[in-house]
Amino acid sequence: MSTLIEQAHSREWFYAYDLPDGSSTATYHDDEIHLIHNTRWQMLESYLDKYLAEDKRSLSALDLASHQGWFAINMARAGFAPVLGIDARQSHVEDSTLIADIFDMEHLSFQVGDIHEQSRENLGQFDVVLMLGLLYHLENPVGALRVCRELCSDLCIIETQIVPGMSGFVDYGSYQYVRPLKGSFGVIDEMEDTHGPEASVTGICLVPSLEALMWLLEKVGFSRAHVLEPPENAYEQLRYHKRVMVAAHV
Ligand SMILES: C[S@@+](CC[C@H](N)C(=O)[O-])C[C@H]1O[C@@H](n2cnc3c(N)ncnc32)[C@H](O)[C@@H]1O
Repeated sequence: MSTLIEQAHSREWFYAYDLPDGSSTATYHDDEIHLIHNTRWQMLESYLDKYLAEDKRSLSALDLASHQGWFAINMARAGFAPVLGIDARQSHVEDSTLIADIFDMEHLSFQVGDIHEQSRENLGQFDVVLMLGLLYHLENPVGALRVCRELCSDLCIIETQIVPGMSGFVDYGSYQYVRPLKGSFGVIDEMEDTHGPEASVTGICLVPSLEALMWLLEKVGFSRAHVLEPPENAYEQLRYHKRVMVAAHV
């Protein structure tokens, strides 16, 4: 029977894991991909350190769309316990579980699930909820933000692609009655990509403008939200605000 490390080397990876025998998992994207993961972890970790003064071992974390587990594993290594990762794709959950077994990590688990089917009744609440790289792959982003709020008891970190926004006023029912836009959504076609490991599972994607995202976070029940500043050496999408990481507080 093959060892766990041999099993890891027989699979393809989105993240470069350094394995206990000194080898690393081979990734299917070029080296640029490490920068986007590292930038996001750097931003997330520095905000968690700043905001959460208390010992993280008393804090639970949920990673929505955990893919092959990298952010959930980083959260467990940072001391959060328990940590749960959920992803719609069964193969991602199997890969994440393999890595957690290799590192023999306690209080870390993964399960298959669609974000839209999660609720406080089936999962409870978590001190920290992560939703990284998911919102812009969804056809119901508002529902997903509601799920984030429902499952979160303190801090939610959302990282997403955004689109240029429209603002101003529109006629609403009649030229005599106008309403202000609170942002806008871009429609992106992923219908041909739903087999892809990072893609939408339905193919219809609504990507918010920054104004829409911030307005919605308040309307789904977060008391305040702000955009985190990317570091100097950030991945270009974060540096130029084509993607943002937002901290939303209950
Ligand atoms: C771009 S990847 C982001 C992965 C990881 N959060 C990160 O930021 O590196 C998008 C992930 O969302 C998952 N996903 C897509 N639609 C989903 C849904 N409706 N519910 C849960 N996960 C979903 C995909 O399987 C994939 O793992």
